[in-house]
Amino acid sequence: MFDEIANLHAKCFPAKPWAAGDFADLKKSGCEIIASQNGFIVYRTVLDEAEIITIGVAPDARRGGIAAAMLGIVEGELKKSGVKKIFLEVAEDNAAARALYARNGYVESGRRPKYYDGVDAILMEKNI
Ligand SMILES: CC(C)(COP(=O)(O)OP(=O)(O)OC[C@H]1O[C@@H](n2cnc3c(N)ncnc32)[C@H](O)[C@@H]1OP(=O)(O)O)[C@@H](O)C(=O)NCCC(=O)NCCS
Repeated sequence: MFDEIANLHAKCFPAKPWAAGDFADLKKSGCEIIASQNGFIVYRTVLDEAEIITIGVAPDARRGGIAAAMLGIVEGELKKSGVKKIFLEVAEDNAAARALYARNGYVESGRRPKYYDGVDAILMEKNI
């Protein structure tokens, strides 16, 4: 299962692919991983807050609502378990992801200068 997610991750993040073992480690460390043939999302919960670690959709399956659906599923699960806030980080130049998060109710809450190889990280959060 982690092999398939790693293959999908490599298509989504060709410059920084994660190995199957990375996903196994994330799972062992308490992260939740939801994956289908065309998409994956990884998140973790600490008390009443959760962080989206990563999300990706296969290039040929984009703009079909898969990422928005995964965010919705995660949000529903987190609400049931008493989580009040979801946060994440996104590269300033990642227009698709920033649009996805904004469209789904995430707002900018801060910035880490030059966080990703010289590109700022935008911090975003959503109260649920
Ligand atoms: C970001 C990503 C996960 C979006 O997945 P997706 O399944 O295509 O997103 P959705 O179809 O659910 O899009 C939902 C909304 O997000 C916005 N959006 C998504 N991709 C967009 C793009 N390329 N340009 C502008 N807006 C975009 C739109 O508002 C879209 O709604 P619409 O299609 O009705 O206009 C996908 O582009 C991806 O895997 N990118 C590479 C990996 C990555 O950067 N992950 C995020 C790391 S923080």
